[in-house]
Amino acid sequence: MSLHTIDQVFKLQDGETARIHGWVRSKSRIGGLTFAIIRDGTGEMQVAARKGVADDKSISAINDASKESAVVVEGSVKTDPRASGGKEIQVKSFQVLAKAEKWPITKSAVTSPSFLYDNRHLSIRGRKSAAVMKVRAEIIYASFDFFVQGGFTLISAPTIVQSACEGGSTLFELDYFGQKVYLSQSAQLYEEAAIFAFEKVFIFQPAFRAEKSKTSKHLTEFWMIEAEQAFVEQQDNLKLQEELVHAIVSRVVEKRAKELATLGRNVRVPEKPLPRISYDEVLGMASKKGIGFTWGEDIPTNVERMVSQAFDRPFFITDYPLSARGFYHMTKPDNDKVTKSADLIAPEGYGEIATGGERVSDYDMLLERVKKQELPAESFQWYLDLRKYGMSTHAGFGIGVERTARWLCGLKHIRAASLFPRTMTRVNP
Ligand code: 4AD
Ligand code: MG
Repeated sequence: MSLHTIDQVFKLQDGETARIHGWVRSKSRIGGLTFAIIRDGTGEMQVAARKGVADDKSISAINDASKESAVVVEGSVKTDPRASGGKEIQVKSFQVLAKAEKWPITKSAVTSPSFLYDNRHLSIRGRKSAAVMKVRAEIIYASFDFFVQGGFTLISAPTIVQSACEGGSTLFELDYFGQKVYLSQSAQLYEEAAIFAFEKVFIFQPAFRAEKSKTSKHLTEFWMIEAEQAFVEQQDNLKLQEELVHAIVSRVVEKRAKELATLGRNVRVPEKPLPRISYDEVLGMASKKGIGFTWGEDIPTNVERMVSQAFDRPFFITDYPLSARGFYHMTKPDNDKVTKSADLIAPEGYGEIATGGERVSDYDMLLERVKKQELPAESFQWYLDLRKYGMSTHAGFGIGVERTARWLCGLKHIRAASLFPRTMTRVNP
């Protein structure tokens, strides 16, 4: 008999025969019955073995099956309101394919979160971790659909680079046959080259930051979705991000309701347009609360958290000072100290999930920026060169996948949004 997936079994009628494979999540014995919860890639289901219905070999197999053993189960489907999901399989045959050793992740063994991350290769089987990863995947599917439908071309770019996109302080340096190179912080510069060929592009790849701070929102390796468009201004760029976030949340709420429930998370699809407040307004709010900062600095984390807590849906902080932004940011026509850029901030204290803006299109202006910031002009030569061959107004943004998953799943720490997180203190497993 061919195999069913567990979600298929839930659609069978009482009395129909089901055959599933999976892993034993838990077991219990009540009277003469042995119950096991079996998990496969689609869900989990209770199976119940009773002497006489199941053969003796199967009874001893289920009694002997340890947590996380791989098993094959066959039996008839029965509605039972006591079973989670309302149905169970009454076992006729139960076979252990691979017996698991004693499962090391027990309540008494877990004395700190780091124990779970030391054993991440095993702990990812947990209900909550699996739910987070399903939400994370849905964010990516939603983004791909969104961009493909919008006529964007998917590109790839190198992750070994010489031209640093986001400043020198978070660069991972590599020795490339005697030459100094870096792991890419962002694919933006390559996207800017690609828009001349494709007009609208998007990219999905890892980004690396040697973040020397241990925070709940920084990974050293994370995944970013970036988009860049020719012939558009910052207002169009904001609109695109607004549409993307709407598409992502709608899709997650629709397709991952079960996972959000597992995580005890309730997210609402944000109404459009998203609110916008300026950097200066944030400074004003912060000063009123006695946590003011100097104009021109990046917004401090505690201020970002405070503003983020004031909103119940994502919003933009616009008009950042040039001194707090990358060298490539375009400034306002009436004020060369303020950029046409914005951060997209998740509500409830989760903070920044995306950054974007209009880029400098003029060769001389960009060369001046490169010189002023003492960037190595040779490695930016190709990027400068683009400004000589038909570069119009253009803009784009990058949204962090794990930051977005952290917000949608309501996670305390961003590492929970990564299958095998990389942080300042963790590169294993
Ligand atoms: O704000 P960032 O540094 O912007 C850029 O890299 C632009 N070049 C993107 C662009 O315009 N194409 O990074 C973009 C996003 C952040 O908003 C955040 O969501 C995420 O990437 N991010 C991180 N996520 C996890 N850990 C880190 N250390 C992150 N650094 C940035
Ligand atoms: Mg940013």
